[in-house]
Amino acid sequence: MASTDSRFAATSGAIGVFDSGYGGLTILRQMRQLMPQYDYVYLGDNARAPYGSRSFDVIYRYTLQCVEALFAQGCQLVILACNTASAKALRSIQQIDLARIDPERRVLGVIRPTVEAVCDMTQTRHVGVLATVGTINSGSYEMEIHKCAADIVVTGQACPMWVPLVENDEYDSPGADYFVRKRIEGILRTDPLIDTLVLACTHYPLLMNKIVKYTPPGVRIVPQGDYVSYSLRRYLQRHPEMADRCTTTGHCRFLTTEDPEKFTESATLFMHERVTAEHIEL
Ligand code: DGL
Repeated sequence: MASTDSRFAATSGAIGVFDSGYGGLTILRQMRQLMPQYDYVYLGDNARAPYGSRSFDVIYRYTLQCVEALFAQGCQLVILACNTASAKALRSIQQIDLARIDPERRVLGVIRPTVEAVCDMTQTRHVGVLATVGTINSGSYEMEIHKCAADIVVTGQACPMWVPLVENDEYDSPGADYFVRKRIEGILRTDPLIDTLVLACTHYPLLMNKIVKYTPPGVRIVPQGDYVSYSLRRYLQRHPEMADRCTTTGHCRFLTTEDPEKFTESATLFMHERVTAEHIEL
């Protein structure tokens, strides 16, 4: 396993990974497993999480600030490891802001790689999408799935309490049982033919024990980490000019807009390795 070292200074060329809070760690963990050679800088905007029920303008503004903060750390490539930000801010950042900031840098999201994998999985052609209010209301999953396969019936279910459960250390509590069960039963009642449930929020794998507990056998649960990581690897293979600009000393830094001690404690648990976080002011 690559080492985690908050004193690592040469962050120029690290791959930036952004989420509103802890959720993106589920993506970062898989990326580091698949590509331990790269350097990474994780930024969790924990002070302003959750993003899920905020307006388009606010999510866009917050996400852009975080992307610029990662660029200031030297990142050439930033992954929005947050579906809400990918749904609401990615396109504007790619089409408007990058030209102004630096046309050579890149920002990628998590929705497309997830959708590409899901379309091949479903046998019944009925897919359920569990996500934040923002992601569901954006219609992004339905739109992207229908670009791949117009015959798939997509049912979305917003799970507004799930991110706060994770951000507030309640992911293993009886309250988590209540809210996870409620939403899974709800979506399967709306469409009993669903055989594939997409965890379209990067926080949700941190509730996996509960999700598995309330999902009937025969319904496949799809977290995104693997698909996003493989897609990033393919991207770097297809874009050697970007791969060359990403440094490869195997280090990882963790930045949070909240209390670094709290982040250190939770992230150490979620990453399955010792993490030392630093505070960042945006
Ligand atoms: N992990 C983010 C996502 O994938 C959570 C958004 C939030 O902060 O509500 O959507």
